[in-house]
Amino acid sequence: MISSAAGGMAMSIWSSREFDDHEQIDFFSDQKTGLRAIVAIHSTFLGPAAGGTRFKPYDSEDAALDDVLRLSRAMSYKSALAGMPVGGGKSVIIGDPRSLKTRALLHAFGRFIHRIGNSYATGEDVGISVADIDTVAEVTPFVGGTSGGAGDPSVHTAVGYLHGLRAVLETGFHTDSFAGVRVGLQGLGAVGWGIAERLHAVGAKLVVADIRPDVVERAVRDFGATSLPTQTIHCAEVDIYAPCALGGVITEEAVGEIRARAVAGAANNQLATPRAGVMLAERGILFAPDFVINAGGIISGLEAASRMPGRKPVELAPLGTRLAAIHERLAEIFRRSRVNGVTPEATAEQMARQIIGR
Ligand code: NAI
Repeated sequence: MISSAAGGMAMSIWSSREFDDHEQIDFFSDQKTGLRAIVAIHSTFLGPAAGGTRFKPYDSEDAALDDVLRLSRAMSYKSALAGMPVGGGKSVIIGDPRSLKTRALLHAFGRFIHRIGNSYATGEDVGISVADIDTVAEVTPFVGGTSGGAGDPSVHTAVGYLHGLRAVLETGFHTDSFAGVRVGLQGLGAVGWGIAERLHAVGAKLVVADIRPDVVERAVRDFGATSLPTQTIHCAEVDIYAPCALGGVITEEAVGEIRARAVAGAANNQLATPRAGVMLAERGILFAPDFVINAGGIISGLEAASRMPGRKPVELAPLGTRLAAIHERLAEIFRRSRVNGVTPEATAEQMARQIIGR
């Protein structure tokens, strides 16, 4: 179903490169609060869709639509590979959260989420905090990651990421020790900071960049990190380059400049194009598909999701076990990738699409 107030838009959606047979795309607007939001549901094959809300000043409406479509498809892949009875979806709110975000706007957004009902639940992403989700939860139960529920998913994303990074170490560096491993962290936000803390604790050496000088200074002080400008962090002389800010940073041009032997970050949709993934492989740089290594947040939301109205309770292994499984899953993807001569990204996508019947 496509529900759009904008006449003529639907045709360009169905033929758009990122469409990939999304089941449902909703466009919402609320004049009073200035809310303009898009909710995309890629697949409910495995169960009701889940995926956070990104609040961002997009350059154009097309950029927002492309982003939500790519992100929601990645959520389908993420949940499928994590073995969860959950489909893939995502939301974007267009605008600068610093000036536009109000209680009234979050409530208006929540009412739209409620209108979608049992086929989608949302949560945090860039520009949306736990406090914001608590506000949205005042008007709809279809949210995860509230302070009284699963809490901040970024903590679990960071924990799951470190499990995945061990598979990167074993496959790419033939070690399971982080001691002395140099990691270039791009972005020290909710997830990036959690990763920095944990990597520092296990002896990794950090090189960091963020557009916020205060967090960079704190990382230098607390972790003995070296700081680099945001423009050059991707070509830092490190073992592992970890994009943990926004997606699309691995452009075909950037691939030639990367000096790390592995790229493994928590940001969603790091590869700007599929070709960039092939180019990484041609240069012998190991790439950890983001929708595998950053699945900890969604994995942590499963208990809360199963308590939403209309959902069936599910038998679950302890959260720690589910997060630790990211290690073996990624190791298996690297093995299949090597055996079949297909990039890890394409290998993971094929595996996920098979699970969701595509
Ligand atoms: P956040 O908004 O807390 O952090 C993003 C950080 O990146 C901020 O510190 C920001 O200043 C910095 N940043 C922005 N532009 C930058 C640039 N050009 N260079 C360097 N730093 C820059 O967001 P969060 O939650 O940490 O998410 C980061 C990424 O991880 C996003 O791509 C998100 O979709 C992804 N992700 C987040 C999950 C979560 O649990 N929060 C789960 C899975 C993926």
